[in-house]
Amino acid sequence: MNKKILVTGGTGYIGSHTVVELQQQGYEVVIVDDLSNSDIEVLDRIETITGIRPTFEQFNLIDAEKTDALFAKHNDLSAVIHFAASKAVGESVEKPLLYYQNNISSLINLLNAMRKHNVQNMVFSSSCTVYGQPDVLPVTEEAPTKPAESPYGNTKQICEEILRDTASAYPEIKAIALRYFNPVGAHDSALIGELPKGVPMNLVPFITQTAIGLREQLSVFGSDYDTPDGTCIRDYIHVVDLAKAHIIAAERMLEAKGKADFEFFNLGTGTGSTVLQVIKAFESVNGIKLNYKIVDRRPGDIEKIWADTDIANKELGWKTERDLDNMMETAWKWEKNLRENLIKN
Ligand code: WQD
Repeated sequence: MNKKILVTGGTGYIGSHTVVELQQQGYEVVIVDDLSNSDIEVLDRIETITGIRPTFEQFNLIDAEKTDALFAKHNDLSAVIHFAASKAVGESVEKPLLYYQNNISSLINLLNAMRKHNVQNMVFSSSCTVYGQPDVLPVTEEAPTKPAESPYGNTKQICEEILRDTASAYPEIKAIALRYFNPVGAHDSALIGELPKGVPMNLVPFITQTAIGLREQLSVFGSDYDTPDGTCIRDYIHVVDLAKAHIIAAERMLEAKGKADFEFFNLGTGTGSTVLQVIKAFESVNGIKLNYKIVDRRPGDIEKIWADTDIANKELGWKTERDLDNMMETAWKWEKNLRENLIKN
């Protein structure tokens, strides 16, 4: 009997890629998503890729009653992989209460339902923003977390603390937080990928939308940082590599291989790339000249961060396999397929 996994936010960018990997590894998947930042058509595309249509429940996890009813209905869940959250850094500064309510009460409702219905394992989508600007690079899991630069980042820190305290108080609950660096790229099929609503905040969707002509020009936020070419450094990780780590983390708990009831791991490549290096990789692998200009720094940006991946590599037996060129190639293939085929208008 295949193990059944609940994926919250499973029609979203990272969620959909994780659902594909779960199904391809023989897991049965239930998705809960409120479709506030994704489209129902993603279910069709997941089915096209894997041949299996995930069970889909549509509601927001801040509804405690519906959340509990979901666990009563699917009373054979082995684990929860929790992606559903509001995640726009800038928006969180304008609407902090929306972020605290959505991101934190959703987690609390899930944990209450897990306890009540004896679902013991949670993989939580966290972020390297918990480190702020690290004092030492590459940044390891032992590095101190710093006061968050945004309410969004703060919700990630608070949620990790909720998981730590819950797992320590209730022996039946185990949790693993995965601290993502910068997820980019798309599935090789070009049927699923990043599809931000409105004007993209993040670098790579802005690059691909500029290349396809949806955006006039990419603004590069600052070239006076203390980096090789003056632009910020980030650790970009392919979304498929990232998705695979979630299954490994779930299995670590399902097979009781964890060393503690609450664990957290960096999910990065261990390599930092500047903004200009990302642009150059995009241009060379896709044979495109990108229209961009250097402008002032973006408030709130940290200068540089990249992951020390030793603990994740060793403890999870997981390593990234895809490089920056493949990230840029798959991101572009997705953007073209999306605009030419998937979005009719
Ligand atoms: C990357 C670099 C920008 C856009 C945030 C969140 C993180 C995660 C990913 C949710 C920076 C530069 C960007 C542009 C640019 N979010 N940039 N022009 O800020 O590192 O991380 O998004 O999960 O939690 O903190 O990602 O892609 O916005 O920026 O020059 O139009 O690209 O200054 O140096 P970031 P990003």
